[in-house]
Amino acid sequence: MAETMSELSGDAREQRIAELKAKMQAAAARAKANQEATGSPAGESVSEPAAAAEPAPVAEAVAESAPAADASARPAVAPAKPAPRPAGNGATAPRPAPAAARPAPKAAEKADSGAPTVSEMNRREFMIYAWGAALGLLTLEVGVLSYLFMYPRFRAGEFGGQFFVPESTVPASDSPPDGNPVGKFWMVSNEEGEPKALYMVCTHLGCLYKWEPSAFRFECPCHGSKFTKDGYFIEGPAPRSLDYFEVSVEGETIIVDTGRRITGDPATESPARIIEA
Ligand code: FES
Repeated sequence: MAETMSELSGDAREQRIAELKAKMQAAAARAKANQEATGSPAGESVSEPAAAAEPAPVAEAVAESAPAADASARPAVAPAKPAPRPAGNGATAPRPAPAAARPAPKAAEKADSGAPTVSEMNRREFMIYAWGAALGLLTLEVGVLSYLFMYPRFRAGEFGGQFFVPESTVPASDSPPDGNPVGKFWMVSNEEGEPKALYMVCTHLGCLYKWEPSAFRFECPCHGSKFTKDGYFIEGPAPRSLDYFEVSVEGETIIVDTGRRITGDPATESPARIIEA
């Protein structure tokens, strides 16, 4: 077993130091030559035997040249660069690649190819689907609200909904009309005895016309338009006969749907029209 530096003395110690210096210089020369041959930094070489073998003499020289009393300070140097163990055939084992030299899988792939990775593609697709679902839901809500706004639902007994009128209360054709202020219609019977619900609003500019018993007809107080008890235009600035609501008969009940208004015929087509000479 070789003697340590601390066990040598005199010329033997000097000779040992000289040998170690020669080893260090030779190892440095080999490392430099290897670096120049490969063109890569010495720290990135993974399996180069020369570079891997370089730390051996250095660690050995440092360990042997230090006095025995300084043994406690060795761990500060030796753990930093552990000498690679020789393989069975005398060759040094490849030094593990430094962490900085290992390729970062995803970042490196993206940087090299420029294409998104699988995980990024999934995240992007998820965002697209999420935005699409949110947009679809918003569109559906807007559509439903628009439909309800344009076609509001009304309950029976309020204007816009249905009114159930007993057939026995409908005036006869030769009787005055029966007004329904809540439903905004006049209930009458035409010449054929059929029920009819006249909308209470004048077809000229929207005034509420009145029943004039003395003339047995409707007259508008605003501009003087006149209509028969059946709602036909007689005279005045109104452009058409009175509007009316859709009615249906179920048994002995007349159903007036104030949500379905039917426009009156043009004044020129009214059979009761008075043509001024
Ligand atoms: Fe009725 Fe003008 S609003 S005639």
